[in-house]
Amino acid sequence: MANISLVNVCKTYKNGYSAVKDFNLEIRDKDFIIFVGPSGCGKSTTLRMIAGLEEISSGELWIDDCLMNMVEPKNRELSMVFQNYALYPHMSVYENMAFSLRVRKLPKEEIDRRVREAAGTLEISHLLDRRPAALSGGQRQRVAIGSVIVRQPKVYLMDEPLSNLDAKLRGQMRVELARLHRELGATIIYVTHDQVEAMTLGTRIVVMKDGRIQQVAAPAELYENPINQFVAGFIGSPSMNFLEVSVKKEKEITWVCGKSWRLPLGAAAARRAADRSCTGKRVILGIRPEDLHQEGPDGAALEMEIHVRELLGAEVILHGDIAGDMDETGGAADKKSQLAAKLPPDCNARPGEHIRLFADMSRIKLFDADTGENILYI
Ligand SMILES: Nc1ncnc2c1ncn2[C@@H]1O[C@H](COP(=O)(O)OP(=O)(O)OP(=O)(O)O)[C@@H](O)[C@H]1O
Ligand SMILES: [Mg+2]
Repeated sequence: MANISLVNVCKTYKNGYSAVKDFNLEIRDKDFIIFVGPSGCGKSTTLRMIAGLEEISSGELWIDDCLMNMVEPKNRELSMVFQNYALYPHMSVYENMAFSLRVRKLPKEEIDRRVREAAGTLEISHLLDRRPAALSGGQRQRVAIGSVIVRQPKVYLMDEPLSNLDAKLRGQMRVELARLHRELGATIIYVTHDQVEAMTLGTRIVVMKDGRIQQVAAPAELYENPINQFVAGFIGSPSMNFLEVSVKKEKEITWVCGKSWRLPLGAAAARRAADRSCTGKRVILGIRPEDLHQEGPDGAALEMEIHVRELLGAEVILHGDIAGDMDETGGAADKKSQLAAKLPPDCNARPGEHIRLFADMSRIKLFDADTGENILYI
């Protein structure tokens, strides 16, 4: 059992830099919590405060009804896996995994039982006699995780544990971590830059920016219902398209209008836009690349001039500009009319060509141009 709560937690470093501001989060037993956000947003600092490696400047950290602010790291029943884990090169895998338990003077049989069990879970039983130098990157990573598992912590803290593995190994380790979480029934707090890791591993994702939480939600909810433009743009690859538009009402239809094109809003979005008095104003239209299709109802089409075609195997990503949105000099269109579309791989459209794309208007988002707030947030 481990429930963790952070109440108004702040971190100001000695040089006066405020790295984490008013952080509030309830982490429940067996949660797999992911911290994501741009470099420098305070992810590691928050994790290190939970671990006790960094002093909490103000606010409270509770673990299962005990105030932890002043508790020594070793008494917090947490274990941390770092980005640059270190294995002892002169010790075997077995000895590496047993090391922390030997320091704690656990009985030999107990140490042996735990090491062999963890090795079984991580499928490294056949490697126990090897030295780290004779292991692959992924195997070394598993040993590092193994030496944490044997301690049987209440909570696992992981700071970008897979970041120095190649793409294929990362993929394998990701699947293993998901399995480990299920098998150990552990509470895990995990920092990553990797969206795929965030979306596939997390039970809940915490998106941070400039030391502040932007949104905490389950992966699917974060994707479908982002609270603001920052979250919408951060989650998803390629990123959501953002187009500056104005909202205009003509007869019964509300349109979002670019320079040379317009798209009709659905009834619900039109109502929300009216409630927020958006008519006549500039807003940001958000369309995910996968919500642009080659077919659709007339009147919901954009014409894109293709600049780059990326074939990824199962899909093709087209990058370009909205045709007609060129500036007066006839040069390249400004950034505001750039578009990416994710289409089936049989789409043969090439750079230099134009393609008609239909937006799924039931899935678009609208953001306040000043605050970035999602006008359609539910
Ligand atoms: N000891 C320190 N003294 C002063 N500022 C620090 C200290 N450690 C970190 N910072 C600053 O605090 C901010 C948050 O750092 P942190 O390491 O938590 O970021 P992060 O989100 O983990 O970034 P990354 O994704 O690059 O690892 C950064 O701007 C960093 O420069
Ligand atoms: Mg970090």
